[in-house]
Amino acid sequence: MRILGIESTCDETACSIVEDGTKILSNVVSSQIDLHREFGGVVPELACRRHIDIIAPVLQAALENANVTLDQIDAIAVAKGPGLIGALLIGMHFAKALAISRNIPLIGVNHIEAHLYAAIMSHGAPTLPALGAVLSGGHTSLVEMQGIGNYKLIGETVDDAIGESFDKVAKMVGLAYPGGPNIEQRALRGNLSRFHFKAGRVKSNPLNFSFSGIKTSVLYTIRDMPKPLSEQDIADISCCFQEAVFTDVIQKAKLALDRGNYKALYIGGGVTLNKRLRLLLSEHLSIPIYWPNLDLCLDNAAMIAGLAYHKEPLTSYDLECETRIPFAR
Ligand code: KG4
Ligand code: ZN
Repeated sequence: MRILGIESTCDETACSIVEDGTKILSNVVSSQIDLHREFGGVVPELACRRHIDIIAPVLQAALENANVTLDQIDAIAVAKGPGLIGALLIGMHFAKALAISRNIPLIGVNHIEAHLYAAIMSHGAPTLPALGAVLSGGHTSLVEMQGIGNYKLIGETVDDAIGESFDKVAKMVGLAYPGGPNIEQRALRGNLSRFHFKAGRVKSNPLNFSFSGIKTSVLYTIRDMPKPLSEQDIADISCCFQEAVFTDVIQKAKLALDRGNYKALYIGGGVTLNKRLRLLLSEHLSIPIYWPNLDLCLDNAAMIAGLAYHKEPLTSYDLECETRIPFAR
């Protein structure tokens, strides 16, 4: 079955064609980073306008790269949330119009679930039950995975998402958006013992995350330092912040693994591009860790088209936005 996936939840416009849930025929992503960089974060109105301008050419490129025509597509899949509402609606209406005009099924897919599926589709049949971790710019969740589509949410952020905290700290030290890759680069030259940052604990659920406190600690640290910050200051802050956040992820992953009976860890989202995270997790956890392939870490439509293969098509073309993650608590 050949599915065309469409993704427009935030600042990437993406189309991809995937066969039978795993075979990627094309994976086209048009990133809006340049558009938002001067504002230090995503500006929703600008994101929407760019999605409208670019979505048809992105579809065209996905068809050409896969060497197929729309007649050879069996179903249309689209990310139906969570995301920026205006941005989401553009992808959803585009998908709906395509499906109706071709008279083929329409499948709505949850974006967070798709990030986890990116790791699954990178490695073949899943090893289950597994612990799942979504570490992205908008989401930070730990889930128990019994099967594809069968999840229980066991931890999530109570404030900022992990990638968001990288983006905000980067902005504080004067690094460009998106902050994650820039923090990672600067951290390579940093002194790990200079600052002692710590991510928050959430009493009500020790598997929940909190990154707003560490962000404030960085802010106060910078406030008391001579300006402008030196290159070494930026490297040291980047290094100590990154290490503290990843130490927290490791601790929570370990705790979750101790509490459950998991055979593997599946991990997804933009932060999984970080090499330090990959190294630390593999050093500290004895369980197999399945990462997404590098081209499936950031927002993309291959994970949408891939996951859709495992979902029932809508019985009508009435697609509703999903503002929450669909896991049972
Ligand atoms: O998954 P994604 O494309 O978007 C959401 O669904 O939210 O992730 C984007 C996030 C941004 O916050 C970005 O700073 C972060 O992923 N990111 C990284 C790295 N590359 C991207 N964070 C840490 N280290 C990286 N190398
Ligand atoms: Zn995402």
